[in-house]
Amino acid sequence: MLAVMNQKGGVGKTTTTLNLGHALARQGRRVLAIDLDPQAHLTAGLGALRRNQPGVDVLMLGEASLEDAVVTVRDNLDLLPAGERLGELEHLQDGGARRGFLLRDALGEVADYDAILIDCPPSSGILGMNALLACREVLIPVAGDFFSLQGLARLMAIFTHIEETLKREIHKWVVLTRFHARRRLAREVREKLLDHFPGQVLCTPIRESVALAESPGFGQTIFEYQARSNGALDYQALADDVWQRRTLSVEEMSHAG
Ligand SMILES: Nc1ncnc2c1ncn2[C@@H]1O[C@H](COP(=O)(O)OP(=O)(O)OP(=O)(O)O)[C@@H](O)[C@H]1O
Ligand SMILES: [Mg+2]
Repeated sequence: MLAVMNQKGGVGKTTTTLNLGHALARQGRRVLAIDLDPQAHLTAGLGALRRNQPGVDVLMLGEASLEDAVVTVRDNLDLLPAGERLGELEHLQDGGARRGFLLRDALGEVADYDAILIDCPPSSGILGMNALLACREVLIPVAGDFFSLQGLARLMAIFTHIEETLKREIHKWVVLTRFHARRRLAREVREKLLDHFPGQVLCTPIRESVALAESPGFGQTIFEYQARSNGALDYQALADDVWQRRTLSVEEMSHAG
């Protein structure tokens, strides 16, 4: 189970959950994607947004079962939609520490999937906390611009806090998104990430590509919208990285320049 997380907005969390999820499904893995963002971008991007749809909201509120809320959206790919009451959960006042475990408890022992990906909202509130407490691993998308590096210290502090509370490590993976290979700044961001996250930066950077930005508007993944585009190639390669745990090493980078 992997939480796709970064409290910074617009770094490619949803784009990554959607296309990485479909890439893994196309490789024959059984995938569940969870839309944990009240904006419901993942649900919409998969063309699955419906009115009065029960989703992860009612599941977490204890008013529906997993079977009630899960929808099959592609071969091998299931979706737990956001649902219209997800915003309420972000502002939940009661429940104390238990508020953080609603997702973990609601999912129980979901054994039917090879991979579960959670698209988190751009905040570090209760919903993000629920994702972290349910997952052993996080995937952190980082866009190749200067401000992307700034929020990372805060994100790391959140992880450390959770690790201390739970007394277990959360494995962190980093994926570079919106990458411009010819921009010096993007390469600098990549080098800084390698310094800070040795052995954790996945090999494939996701290049900036117009098709990736356009495809959700058609309710399509990149493999349906433009199967031969850079975006499709990159997310296919990223799926292999995730599955094989392929990361960049500093030595490789000094050759690649
Ligand atoms: N590699 C890319 N190339 C071009 N556009 C991209 C790429 N990745 C994401 N985008 C576009 O950038 C915008 C933000 O991406 P996305 O919605 O995936 O980020 P997010 O982190 O989920 O945002 P939020 O924090 O609002 O949930 C979207 O319009 C998306 O289509
Ligand atoms: Mg998003």
